[in-house]
Amino acid sequence: MGRVFVAGSINMDVVATADRHPKVGETVAGRQVLYFPGGKGANQAVAAARLGAGTTLIGRLGKDSFGAELRTFLGEQGIDLGYVQETADAHTGTAIITVAEADNTIVVIPGANALVSADDVGVVPLLKGDVAVSQFEIPLPTIAAFFQRARAAGVTTLLNPAPAQKMSGELLALVDILVLNETELGFLAGTELADGDEAARIIDVARKRQARADQTICVTLGTRGVLALAGREEIAVPGRAVNAVDTTGAGDCFVGALAACLADGAALPAALAFANAAASISVQRMGAGPSMPTAKEVKAVL
Ligand code: RIB
Ligand code: NA
Repeated sequence: MGRVFVAGSINMDVVATADRHPKVGETVAGRQVLYFPGGKGANQAVAAARLGAGTTLIGRLGKDSFGAELRTFLGEQGIDLGYVQETADAHTGTAIITVAEADNTIVVIPGANALVSADDVGVVPLLKGDVAVSQFEIPLPTIAAFFQRARAAGVTTLLNPAPAQKMSGELLALVDILVLNETELGFLAGTELADGDEAARIIDVARKRQARADQTICVTLGTRGVLALAGREEIAVPGRAVNAVDTTGAGDCFVGALAACLADGAALPAALAFANAAASISVQRMGAGPSMPTAKEVKAVL
């Protein structure tokens, strides 16, 4: 069984819950303020670890109380934190989130996440069969360095290009499995993709963006499930109807679960169905990191 290595962001999520989102310039009364461990990288690592994968996180925290709290929480999940360093040069990454009507808006202040460097990812012991995961909340040159090393070691690379940013063709070509939502695929392809687009159109756009003939592109469609293009093969995973309370981190749950399944040697269709079920559980709970399910919980709904 391989390990999951996540190079990525670690944030404290400061969450305000309200009955509805304020309009620009408007003030609304909130219900609660909540503090949840978050950050796309950390969330992905928590999901993988709770599902039973040996998981290593590579990242940076500030020397502050959020950093200390996050280290404690992540350690309790069984994640190897030997490559998470504290820096005096920046504060711990912080996300200011509003949750209303089960939907969220997020402003992320990267802080220490912006300092995760190629040197940080250059020392981790990657072995064939492992899965290397990243997202766009750490510098892109760091991700490229991480994936170059991973590919040289025969390690599968999995990228979640969120939040969407311009990426070079060189970086895209280093990716074995790209996981993104419809909006992010539209951004990557320079075309509008709207909620409710036909599967055939989504697959067509994905096919045009495949950087290598053997690349896998997974498009997460929320309640409509997942569409994937694996080389020439198309895979569709149906959506799951659940009562969502907070979708923050659902995409991260999917990514972490997919990585855990692949590190365990699962075939892609089964791994996608498992990850989709895991994400459907996470949206039924508040918070990002703390909402990630265990393998037992996922198996119970499959
Ligand atoms: O994907 C959700 C995450 O995005 C939140 O946990 C927040 O920290 C932001 O990074
Ligand atoms: Na959640």
